[in-house]
Parts: sequence; C-alpha cells; structure tokens
Amino acid sequence: MAEIENWQYYCYDEIGSTNDEIKKFCLQKEKKVVVRALSQTAGRGRRGRKWVTKAGNLFFSVALEFDLKNLGQLVIISSLSLAQSVKFLSADANVKLKWPNDVLLDGKKMSGILMEKAEGEYIIVGIGVNVAESPKESTLLYPATSLAENGINTDAENFLQIYLHKFNENLQKYSAGEYEALRSEWMDFAKGVGDKIVIKQEQKQLKGIFAGIDEQANLLLQCKNETIKVMVGDVFYETKG
Ligand code: BTN
Repeated sequence: MAEIENWQYYCYDEIGSTNDEIKKFCLQKEKKVVVRALSQTAGRGRRGRKWVTKAGNLFFSVALEFDLKNLGQLVIISSLSLAQSVKFLSADANVKLKWPNDVLLDGKKMSGILMEKAEGEYIIVGIGVNVAESPKESTLLYPATSLAENGINTDAENFLQIYLHKFNENLQKYSAGEYEALRSEWMDFAKGVGDKIVIKQEQKQLKGIFAGIDEQANLLLQCKNETIKVMVGDVFYETKG
C-alpha cells in the first residue's frame, strides 16, 4: 500500500471525479486517505462549474471528519496549505489567496478547492492544481496560470507530498488550538484587503471594500453604512497583481 506523509495514497489513471471516488473510503474511519487521478472525465469546480483536465496537473481529494459548523475553518487550513506549498517551492513567488479558497499566482488562478459534504461528519476537500499547464478557454471566469508558466518546476506528485506535509502541520496546529494564528497567516496571503471588490452571486452583485474575514471565514464587506457577512460568491478585484 502506497503512503504519502501518513496518508494512504490511491492514484488512478482516469476516473470521473476524485471527490466522488473518495466517498468509498469515508467509512473506513481509522485511515487517512488521499485519492488522486491523472485525469478526470467529470471534474467539477465550485458552483456547478467544470474543472478541466490538462496533462501533468494535479487532481486529488482528501476526506476529514470535521465539525460542519466549522467548515469555514477547514477552508482556511486547506487553502493556506496550498499557498505555503507554493512558497516552499519558490520563496519569491507572488502568491495570494482569493476568498474563499483560490490560489493566485501573479494575479491569475493556479489552484482551486471544492469542498463537499459526505456521509456522517465527513467533509471532502477536492483540490485542483495547475502544475504543468493552465486552461485557456475563453469561458473561464477568472484568468488561469500554472506553476510551470511561472518558472516553478515541480511535478504533480512532488507538489502533493509538499501539500500533505503542510496540511498535516496545519491540522496539528488547529487541534492544538492555534486557529487564530492560521487565520492570521491566511490574511497575510489575502489579496485585496482594504480594496474595492465586487462579489458575484447567483442572483445579485455586492460591491464594497474587502475588510477581511471573520472567525468562520465569512468575507466581511464594508458597504456604505454597515459591514456585511458574505458566505458565498465569486470575488472580482478592480486592481491587478
Ligand atoms: C474551483 O476552483 O472551482 C474548485 C476546483 C476543484 C477541482 C478539484 S480537482 C480534484 C477534485 N475533483 C473534482 O471533481 N473537483 C476537485
């Protein structure tokens, strides 16, 4: 049985979606399992969007027993671990986190996370990382990039190992009651704090100043007379970089 950083590791050549495949393992309570696919035929992204397979990129999912009411905190831990992994590979990289959990490299999206609920208290964290190539489709919501396009040379399995190492460390800190330190590190990576943003939701758009995130990782949007909590949406910035 292959293992990476204490996670049991299953890697498939091609499956529909790693977020579906990992559900099989959720009931085997004693194991920490990571499922990876070299290619996905039905990869999905947030809010019903597709996640395209490009050769050499990383597609994987982990499942964790986690209190659903603290889901936002898992969003912080998972996305922070991605930003730290990129920094580990390249200390000079211009890495930012775009709420809720996209990783931007030089202002373009390099990685995204899809969280889904599974049976019991299990939360699935599905992660796509553009390691070798980025999608160029004109229908993309946000411009994309890859590690390779930014001169960061690695391969998908190496990135996975670095990620799981950081993720383990952050989960340990979380269990030791150090969530505030993790949230503060997330904020150091956050793009556009204090800037004007637009949040696009299904039915409406919200405009205001990005004031930060609260303890549960809701976005705080400073509007004319009030600060509102935003739980869902896609953020767009007026500034680049
Ligand atoms: C997003 O930014 O919209 C989230 C993208 C998440 C994609 C990953 S790839 C591995 C896992 N399996 C899926 O079908 N989706 C996630």
